[in-house]
Order: sequence, then C-alpha cells, then structure tokens
Amino acid sequence: MIHPEHQRRAYLQAMGIDVWLPRGADEPGVSDVESGAFEAADLDWNELRQCVTDCTRCALASSRTQTVFGVGNPEASWMIIGEAPGAEEDRQGEPFVGRAGQMLNEMLRAIGQSRESVFIANILKCRPPNNRDPKPEEAAACRAYLQRQISLVGPDIILAVGKIAAQNLLQTDEPVGSMRGRQHDLDGVPLVVTYHPAYLLRSPSQKSKAWSDLCLANRLSVAAA
Ligand code: URA
Repeated sequence: MIHPEHQRRAYLQAMGIDVWLPRGADEPGVSDVESGAFEAADLDWNELRQCVTDCTRCALASSRTQTVFGVGNPEASWMIIGEAPGAEEDRQGEPFVGRAGQMLNEMLRAIGQSRESVFIANILKCRPPNNRDPKPEEAAACRAYLQRQISLVGPDIILAVGKIAAQNLLQTDEPVGSMRGRQHDLDGVPLVVTYHPAYLLRSPSQKSKAWSDLCLANRLSVAAA
C-alpha cells in the first residue's frame, strides 16, 4: 500500500504544487520530494510500476503512447540498462523490442542469458520525440525510478549499454570508448559499460570489444554472486 501522505504529496507534485515541510520535521526534505527520491525509495515493485505508469514528472508524459517500465526477472543477477524507449518500445510498452532489441537478445544469448533471466530497463521510461537524446532534466526526473528498480532487483552486475546509459549512471561525460573494458561501481554494484546494440548494428567490427565487455561482466557477476 502507498502511504496516504506519500500519495497526497505525489498528487500535489504531479499538479505542480510545491510541498513545504516544517524545518527539522522527521520527514523528507522538499528537495527529496521534488526529485522523486523520497516517494520512489519506499515503494514495492507494484507500487513503483503504478507510479511510473501515472508519471507526469516531465514533459515526455504528454507525447508518450505509454510508459516503458522494464522487463524480465525482478530478482535477476544481471541488469541491463539502456537509453530510452524508441518508437516500437513506445508502441509495445517493452524495452528493446526493435532491431537493437534483437541484437541485445543475441548478446544475451552469447553469455547464456535471456530477456527472461535478466532485467532490462532504460534511463528514461518515456520516449523522447523523434528519438532525440534524453534531456538532463528528463533523466533527473526519471532517476529515482531506476534507482528503486536497481535496489529492488539487487543485481550482481549492471551492464550499461551505450553512452547515454553509462554517462547518466556514472554521472560523467567520458566517452564510451574509455569507460568500456573495465569495472565501475554503482553504489556498491559492479557495473560494466559496453556499446549500444544499435551502434553494433552500424559498426559490426566493434562486436569483438562488446564480447570482451560481456565476458568481463560475466566474470564479475560470478565473483559477486
Ligand atoms: N534503445 C534503448 O536504449 N532502449 C530501448 O528500450 C530501445 C532502444
């Protein structure tokens, strides 16, 4: 059950009304409420899914067909994080269902995983119009949802596919080429960066590097399990 006070604040916030709290009260700060960190951090899986479905935290709410929460095993040891839904994902409500999704499926099969065994999510839950890059404020508005997904899944390894996922998760502007091939840490969870499947479709010669990233992620997941 969502606590009625949390729900009230979420409604007020969705309507664009600031929620002010008494200084020093045993309550979350206004900035937490505004960032969504507070409301998402307490939610269970179903509540979180509902919150995402109803989300109006950024302007993408008005152009989406539907939200794309994520798919797979909610207790997966692998979590795959991409950028944002594209046209097909927006239509079907599932991440990575287009051509890039087929490529991702192949990558997963190569390491003995599948869409059902891992959990797949994106930095954004809504499609940016014309598949443009997510804006920083959109990624910030969505961050608490992904953070809560990561803490509920509790993965042994996170695979960030592509620049947008890696840069947003690690809060850096380093290029993928220099982030891939080594271990990162996201709040104690090992994280490996690799190329986005859409990029691998355009540049198949980079597949061997992606393969070595997957092997690294596999080793780290075994060590962390
Ligand atoms: N690309 C992504 O990063 N995510 C999707 O869900 C689909 C394509």
